[in-house]
Amino acid sequence: MLPGGTRGLGFALLKCDIALLTKKLFIKTYGCQMNVYDSDRMTDVLAPLGYAPTDMADGADMVILNTCHIREKASEKVFSELGRLRQLKERAADQQGRQVTIAVAGCVAQAEGEEITRRAPWVDIVVGPQTYHRLPELVGKIDPASRNRIIDTDFPEEVKFDFLPGEHAPRGPAAFLSVQEGCDKFCAFCVVPYTRGAEFSRPVRTVLEEAKRLVASGTRELTLLGQNVNAYHGAHDSGKDWTLGRLIRALAEVDGLERIRYTTSHPLDMDDELIAVHGDVPQLMPYLHLPIQSGSNHVLQEMNRRHTSDVYLAVIDKLRAIRPDIAMSGDFIVGFPGESDADFAETLALVSKVGYASAYSFKYSPRPGTPAATSEIQVPESVKSERLESLQQLLNAQQFAFNKGTEGKIVDVLVERAGGRDGQMAGRSPYMQAVNFIGNPDQIGQIVPCRLSEARQNSMTGDIVNLKGAA
Ligand code: 5AD
Ligand code: SF4
Repeated sequence: MLPGGTRGLGFALLKCDIALLTKKLFIKTYGCQMNVYDSDRMTDVLAPLGYAPTDMADGADMVILNTCHIREKASEKVFSELGRLRQLKERAADQQGRQVTIAVAGCVAQAEGEEITRRAPWVDIVVGPQTYHRLPELVGKIDPASRNRIIDTDFPEEVKFDFLPGEHAPRGPAAFLSVQEGCDKFCAFCVVPYTRGAEFSRPVRTVLEEAKRLVASGTRELTLLGQNVNAYHGAHDSGKDWTLGRLIRALAEVDGLERIRYTTSHPLDMDDELIAVHGDVPQLMPYLHLPIQSGSNHVLQEMNRRHTSDVYLAVIDKLRAIRPDIAMSGDFIVGFPGESDADFAETLALVSKVGYASAYSFKYSPRPGTPAATSEIQVPESVKSERLESLQQLLNAQQFAFNKGTEGKIVDVLVERAGGRDGQMAGRSPYMQAVNFIGNPDQIGQIVPCRLSEARQNSMTGDIVNLKGAA
């Protein structure tokens, strides 16, 4: 942690420099919500150097690709984007004599390191997810004359959160708050334990402070983030660690914080206390993303998930017993090495039992360095495609049925932004459904009652109701 005096001085400078934000920073974010959070924090950390965010790469002085390594497709996108950025950098230098700094951050940076500057020597900085608080220092080391490349993919002793600015740009009505990072579960398909490192929980005090600051800047809904968020065990000043359930109870006391969500969870860490919080804390929204990946116990074992499908279903039963309307979401992988037709049929059966409000499904993608990647019983691509297609058909039908089942209900919608059409506003229902309704921009940040009038596949149409009239 920086001494308080240094910190105070830093932020006095941050404030008076706002008027002097002369350089443009473009960040392109790939992958999960944690990357969205990290990109915002990179913006905060670069503000004292005069960088202001822009939404176009063209004309930017610095471009950061905040990357995702979870599946092959995600990583490949980075290299094709880097090809485009090379042209942009050359054009700026040739036509305007302007230096554009290019940085690769996130999980591809962590996993590939020097390989990135070897394949794309026009990249100036490679910075991993645990060291982006050092960006100002890394930017300072760039020397255009020597065309040096800066690579920082440490898993440092210091905790980046202690070095990120306390002050930050407003994040809007619904914001992310990172409370936990990394993973010790080592599922056989997953790169996260290697790219994000060991599990770490932020201390309770810093989480509550950040939550209060976000609420003071206009945030009404917080989604607590972590790769394994329900494994949260943050240090509390009392000397005892707090669980996620305990943390959510404390956040519910923060004045002005109307809604709380958390993602992503592991079934084994859904302890009884956390389940009880779903019944007791009205601010905790009735929606849970709880991945199982496969419905087959054989595949779950090979995946090193360390639980059976019955354990997962029992968690959902408990949740539904105390919060009957809870909307379930999940992740599935089809075509994991050794997955047979019978295994896949068990996934379909599990999906039918649960009835998801939404879910994500993926073809298994072998990731370098993970145990499953070298398995000799890989499933052919064509089989993966067929399975994905039938799983998605079922999940889409369930999502539509869920949406249809909410038609006619009056739900609270947190208004987040203007909608796609004229006069439309957009927000989310408690169940995470996107809701579009006729409204006005003054409603952004408010929670308005909406009657859900028409279900679509991925959204709902609604009408604001005057509750007195509706009662
Ligand atoms: N192949 C396909 N999907 C994967 N996921 C993680 N690793 C892989 C992989 N190697 C999926 C899981 C996880 C989600 C974030 O991405 O379903 O829950
Ligand atoms: Fe990856 Fe999640 Fe498994 Fe951790 S629990 S290894 S993040 S899939």
